Amino acid sequence: MPKIFVTRKIPEAGIKKLKSAGYEVEVNPADKVLAKDELVSVLKTGKYDAVLALLTDKLDADVFQAAKGSVKIFANMAVGFDNVDVEASKKAGIMVSNTPGVLTDTVAEHTFALMLAIAHRVAEADRFTRAGKYHGWEPMMLLGSDLSYKTIGILGLGRIGSRVAYHAVKGFNAKAVYYDVNRNEEFEKEFSAEFCRTPEEVLKKADFVSIHVPLLPATHHLINAEKLKMMKPTAYLINTSRGPVIDEKALAEALQNKIIKGAAIDVFENEPAIEPALLKLDNIILTPHIASATEATRDKMAELAAENIISALSGKEPPNLVR
Ligand code: GLV
Repeated sequence: MPKIFVTRKIPEAGIKKLKSAGYEVEVNPADKVLAKDELVSVLKTGKYDAVLALLTDKLDADVFQAAKGSVKIFANMAVGFDNVDVEASKKAGIMVSNTPGVLTDTVAEHTFALMLAIAHRVAEADRFTRAGKYHGWEPMMLLGSDLSYKTIGILGLGRIGSRVAYHAVKGFNAKAVYYDVNRNEEFEKEFSAEFCRTPEEVLKKADFVSIHVPLLPATHHLINAEKLKMMKPTAYLINTSRGPVIDEKALAEALQNKIIKGAAIDVFENEPAIEPALLKLDNIILTPHIASATEATRDKMAELAAENIISALSGKEPPNLVR
């Protein structure tokens, strides 16, 4: 009977799917991220045919070497796979898959939760109210900004970026401007969106900049001190992609010096560490990498990771093979 190792407790829906395919499933009992040497020793037992892994597992050449000969696939329960050395997986002849599509709406919703919360100062107002500072309605109290009729700048027009643009245009009458390595003229027509030839052009035009690029060498510190200075002083920066896309120290300085008006981020440069200066600021909202964290979506992600394993172990190409 094929044996699957799951690197950490995941939604039962995924485990159920694996078991109903007739597999034996072993979940890391510690419910914590396994250190690399721990994962390597698990894999070196040669007991496992597949691994269901998470974005917190660093799947590098050592891991793939340890898995070689037994593991056919590492199914990453995430759309992003910057935790995986894909070249090393290929060298070891091991497949890798991800979970695109099922989290698009949820991440787009979280992007709006952040965007509206920072513009309407929701977290700050909540702290204010709980601190007993509300003594009656005031005409000038906690004034924020509207999203309606503003310009939203999308960096990365993939599934999630285009869903965010869709909601902004259809729901808030916003104007969408975007940068992507691939221009999408159909999208431009449908949403009266404007393609910008560089990310800088988006930064200059947008009132809200929302980042949806994968983490690659080319997107590391895509937003740095110089780029932040290109944004409008009234603009907000939202990040639900990957932390290292933003230079966090530069962001803290820009927020302290009012170079931009605010930011709301779900991901951090050195997770789980957070640049301490950010924690002291009122003009930023921080959420702990939960953009896809609804019960329904995490179930779907676990199920899709399981489906990829089932395909691979049945000799088929997994639906979400990473190449
Ligand atoms: C979450 O960050 C994901 O990549 O799925």
